[in-house]
Amino acid sequence: MKNILIVFGGNSFEHEVSIKSASNIHNYIDKTIFNVNNLYISKEGIWYEFDNNFKDINTSKLKKIYNIIEYLKRYDLVFNIIHGYSGEDGKLQSLFELFNIKYIGPDSYCSFICMNKILTKLLLENNGIKTTNFIIFKNIKDTIKNMKFPMVIKPSDGGSSCGVSIVNNIIELKRSIKEAKKYSDNIIIEEYIKGRELECAILENNKDLVISKLGEIVVNNDIYSYEDKYVTNKSLLITPTLINYTVENSIKKIAKKAFNICKCKGLARIDFLYDESNNKIYLNEINTLPGFTDISMFPKLLSLEGYSYTDLITIILNNELNS
Ligand SMILES: Nc1ncnc2c1ncn2[C@@H]1O[C@H](COP(=O)(O)OP(=O)(O)O)[C@@H](O)[C@H]1O
Ligand SMILES: [Mg+2]
Repeated sequence: MKNILIVFGGNSFEHEVSIKSASNIHNYIDKTIFNVNNLYISKEGIWYEFDNNFKDINTSKLKKIYNIIEYLKRYDLVFNIIHGYSGEDGKLQSLFELFNIKYIGPDSYCSFICMNKILTKLLLENNGIKTTNFIIFKNIKDTIKNMKFPMVIKPSDGGSSCGVSIVNNIIELKRSIKEAKKYSDNIIIEEYIKGRELECAILENNKDLVISKLGEIVVNNDIYSYEDKYVTNKSLLITPTLINYTVENSIKKIAKKAFNICKCKGLARIDFLYDESNNKIYLNEINTLPGFTDISMFPKLLSLEGYSYTDLITIILNNELNS
């Protein structure tokens, strides 16, 4: 039996989401073929051995790990499910690569690029994949000269919609830049697309790519906000969504192309904005370690293709173990 270590938690805004994802992975992993243990990284960045009490981290037995590399090397494979900062942006991947520790998901190069909205856009546009028009923020004067209201302000390397806002005038612009700067030194300004938010899941299975049907987020407000995602659950997730067959096929083709261009591996959820009024498809972002919670889009979309939670986990693990 292969020894698997689930690594979760981490110092990002998606800490709680990671706990939920890890709990599901732990519950559904096929224990007849894998031995499984968990490693919890606290918000303060301390690494702990963890009993299996996912319900309440505060009352679980945590044992601090002192020699982290030696500890990681006891396992055949790491299932890293830290979303966002440090787990999805190439930092942990670099550590694993330096010490020859096998892990699921893409390498540090792909993780770094896909977490950075500016780099993702440059790479995709350079390969003929359309993303929204944008500028890298320099100052207010330059922004007003080059972009029209409404604009979308985003930290370049954020996630969970933190620091993302739509602005309609200079006052809102100034306020939103200040807010976005709390999350990143690099800010991107995009044209606002009034359209549908569509998502596609990709799973690598024996070198083949399974490209799912499309899911749709029907947002409660202007944007799919942090509160919508994790607190109020007011947005609607539709799986599969009803959409014109040609559009669906085009989006699936773009998703596959983007997966390959960015050198994604194992799994990804690729998000789009679709403007029906002029039939334009924009790739919005690539999530290299999508959520595995009960309400996450990634497992929902792959269940439509016939993959259970357990199948997904087995395929993702075997994909690495056999590579
Ligand atoms: N160019 C845009 N036009 C309209 N809405 C957008 C645009 N970019 C992002 N949004 C909205 O903001 C949300 C968060 O933006 P996104 O780029 O996905 O950042 P994050 O990485 O934080 O999830 C999206 O889910 C969507 O609702
Ligand atoms: Mg997003």
